[in-house]
Amino acid sequence: MTTLEVKDLHASVVSAEGGDDVEILKGVNLTVKSGETHAVMGPNGSGKSTLSYAIAGHPKYTVTSGSITLDGEDVLAMSIDERARAGLFLAMQYPVEVPGVSMSNFLRTAATAVRGEAPKLRHWVKEVKGAMSDLDIDPTFSERSVNEGFSGGEKKRHEILQLGLLKPKIAILDETDSGLDVDALRIVSEGVNRYAEAENAGVLLITHYTRILRYIRPQFVHVFFDGRIVTSGGPELADELEENGYERFTQAAATGA
Ligand SMILES: Nc1ncnc2c1ncn2[C@@H]1O[C@H](COP(=O)(O)OP(=O)(O)OP(=O)(O)O)[C@@H](O)[C@H]1O
Ligand SMILES: [Mg+2]
Repeated sequence: MTTLEVKDLHASVVSAEGGDDVEILKGVNLTVKSGETHAVMGPNGSGKSTLSYAIAGHPKYTVTSGSITLDGEDVLAMSIDERARAGLFLAMQYPVEVPGVSMSNFLRTAATAVRGEAPKLRHWVKEVKGAMSDLDIDPTFSERSVNEGFSGGEKKRHEILQLGLLKPKIAILDETDSGLDVDALRIVSEGVNRYAEAENAGVLLITHYTRILRYIRPQFVHVFFDGRIVTSGGPELADELEENGYERFTQAAATGA
């Protein structure tokens, strides 16, 4: 049983122009436990990706107050790879390209780092092949450079390939559904469900669309607005957002209600 706990988290981004840091997260409270799926929805620019980066340990974001713990351990005191070894995983909204590093080398290095020992080559090759075929990824991709020249949807599929191989305790999926065609959406969702079930994992799913929630069923839905979670509910909240948008939250913010 694993618990990721985010308490009153404030974080700033280092300004590109060398000016003052800009506060993006303004008091996020969120708890994700093993076996739970949480969906986070919210307008563009509200800070959803910033939250995922702050949890994963992206150096551009500075946590100014609040806490993040994993089973009581201080995540903020951990380096990025310690966070990964502790069982945290982030599938990025915009996966980075790593020219010159093949997918197969990258995956094996990542698995070695997370598992603490190199996977036995014969087992590993089989494992990767199986995982790739589950996600309908062409085997030739294993010799291509990480994400280089991959289409948007291909990048997203490879994020889920990593998820299936690294088997984190808590997975944060930042708009994994964006850019996927209808078949890929189903295949990727099934991949997430398979992993979550097998590992009894906690999943934090950031999305703009309820379509993916028909495949990956969240027990909790949170509305993220202006740097914090302003409302939480069950799956019905996602339907309400689809129908009415974020107007009631925008208005509440405008009137200070
Ligand atoms: N390096 C930066 N310099 C200045 N502002 C930044 C920087 N990085 C992020 N921001 C700002 O922080 C805010 C939150 O961005 P973030 O990417 O977390 O939003 P989001 O909720 O994920 O949006 P989307 O739904 O569009 O993905 C945005 O207004 C963004 O412009
Ligand atoms: Mg984002």
